[in-house]
Amino acid sequence: MICFTLSADTLDGMSAQIDRYRGCFDMVELRLDLLKQEERDKLVRAASLPVWSDGVALILTFRRQTDGGAWSGEDTPRLNYVLSLVENHAASLVREGRRVFIDLEDDVGAVAAGREVADAAARHGVRIIRSRHDFQGTPDDPAAVLGELAACGGPGEIPKLAVQVRGSRDLVRLVRAADSVRGNAGSVIIVGMGPYGFPSRVLAPRIGSFLSYGSDPGAGRGHAAPGQIDPRTMAELYRYRSQGPNTEVFGIIGNPVLHSRSPAFHNAEFERQGRDAVYVPFPTDDIEAFRELMTLLDIRGLSVTIPHKEVVAGWFNGAGAQGVTCSPELTAVGACNTVVRDAGGNLVGANTDVEGFLEPLLRRVPDLRNRGVTVLGAGGAARAVVYALLSSGARVLVLNRNQDRAESLAHEYAHLGQISAGALSPEALPLLATHNDIVVQTTSVGMAPELGADPLPFYRFSGTEVLYEIIYSPPQTRLVSRAQAAGCSVVGGEEMFNAQAERQAQLFAQTVK
Ligand code: ATR
Repeated sequence: MICFTLSADTLDGMSAQIDRYRGCFDMVELRLDLLKQEERDKLVRAASLPVWSDGVALILTFRRQTDGGAWSGEDTPRLNYVLSLVENHAASLVREGRRVFIDLEDDVGAVAAGREVADAAARHGVRIIRSRHDFQGTPDDPAAVLGELAACGGPGEIPKLAVQVRGSRDLVRLVRAADSVRGNAGSVIIVGMGPYGFPSRVLAPRIGSFLSYGSDPGAGRGHAAPGQIDPRTMAELYRYRSQGPNTEVFGIIGNPVLHSRSPAFHNAEFERQGRDAVYVPFPTDDIEAFRELMTLLDIRGLSVTIPHKEVVAGWFNGAGAQGVTCSPELTAVGACNTVVRDAGGNLVGANTDVEGFLEPLLRRVPDLRNRGVTVLGAGGAARAVVYALLSSGARVLVLNRNQDRAESLAHEYAHLGQISAGALSPEALPLLATHNDIVVQTTSVGMAPELGADPLPFYRFSGTEVLYEIIYSPPQTRLVSRAQAAGCSVVGGEEMFNAQAERQAQLFAQTVK
C-alpha cells in the first residue's frame, strides 16, 4: 500500500495535499508533530478527525525529533495527546468501518503513558505500528530487530524498522531481512532511508513491506523523510500497486543515479508490453554487494552508468567460459552499459552506447566512410564514440584537454582505422580543418556545474558541419546554440539516449522467461 505522509503544518494544508495527490495512495499518515500547536489544539477539540478520502486507511503519527520528527517537547504530553485522539476520534472511525493505525515507538512501551495508549488502541480496534528508527545506519541483523519489535508489543501489531541505508551493503542486509521475515505471521514495514535505500521504497511490495511512504515535495520542509518520493511517482512511474512478489526487477546502477531518465523510459516500455516488471534506480557504491542484490531480487536486466561501466565490463573477462557472454562492442570499448540474464540464466553483457550513438548519426549521414570527424574528449563516453566511428570507416581526430589521454586512446584504436590526436586548444585548428564534416562533443563541459561553458570556443562553425552533442541535460548547450546559429545540422544527446535505451529494451525483452 502507498501511504501518503501529510506534511503540511495546517489541516487545510494537509487537505490541499490530499487534493493534489488524490487517487495515488491507499493510506494517509497524519503527521501530528508537523502541525502547528494551534492546529493540533483545533484537531483534538474538533467533533471528529478529518476523513479526507473514502476508503483510505489512516495512520496517526506524532514523531519525536530523535526519530526524525518535529516534536521536541516532553514525551508524556505527546502520548496523552495521542491517547485523546484514540479515545475521542479514532475509536468512532473504527466503528464506522475505517482502518485506523497509530505509530508508537518501541521504547514507549516502557512508560505508563505509552502503555495506556497501546491499551486504548487495542480496546478500540486501532492497530499499532511498533516503530524503530535508526539514522546512523542499518543494524547488522535487521531481521532480529524486527523480531524484537514484534516481541515487545501485543498481538496484531506491525513491526516497523526505518533505517539509514549507508551504502549497497546496508541495502543487501535490509533486503535479506525482508526475505527472511516474509511469510511469517503478520506484516512488517521496512523502510530504507537515504539515496541508497531508495530501491526498498519503490520495491516494497516486491520485498514484502506492508506499506511504503510517499510525501509531497512541495511542503515547506520538502519530503517528510530522506529519500522519499511523491505518491504519484510511486503509483504511476513505478506502478507500485501492480507489483507483487513475482514482479520481475530491472534497474540501473550508477552513482549518482536517482535523476536518471532510464526509469521513465523502461517502466513506460514495460507498461506498454503489459509485462509484470519494474525498473528501479539503484545508487550503488559497492559492485560486489550489488551482485548479491542481483541474486536476492533475481534482477533480470540492468543498465549500467557512470562510474561502473568499466568495472562491470570486467564481469565478462572470461566470456564464453563461465556462463557469461558479451558483445564485441563491450570487449572493444571496455565498458558495459547493459547486462541481462538470458532465459538459461547466463549473464549477457552489451554496450548499446555504440549503436545508440550511430543510429541518429546515420539518419543524417548514411555513409560515414572517409568522413573527417573530430571527437572532443577522451573519457569513457569518447571510447564508445571513437570505436563506433572507426568501425564505420570514418577518419577520426580526438582532441582532449589532457593530450596524453587523447594520444593513448588513438594508439589503442589505431588498428581499427585512421585516427589522430591533439590538444583541445587553438593549435588543433589546422587538424580540425580536415576533420570537420562532423564534430562530436563528449566532454562534460556544458553540463552542470559548467552550464553555459563552451569546450571549443576557438572554433567557428561554417554551417556545413554536423554537430553531435551527447549531453542531454541541459537540452541546449552553448555549443549547440552556436552550431545552430551557423546553420549546422545538430544531433542532440536525447536522440542518443533514446536510441541506446531502445536497444536495451530489446535486450530486456529477450529475457522473458
Ligand atoms: P565520461 O565517461 O562522461 O566521458 P570521463 O571519463 O570522466 O567521463 O571523461 C570526461 C571528459 O571530459 C574527459 O575527456 C575530460 O578531459 P580530461 O581527460 O582532460 O580530464 C573532459 N573534461 C572534463 N572537464 C573538462 C573541462 N573543463 N575542459 C575540457 N575538458 C574537460
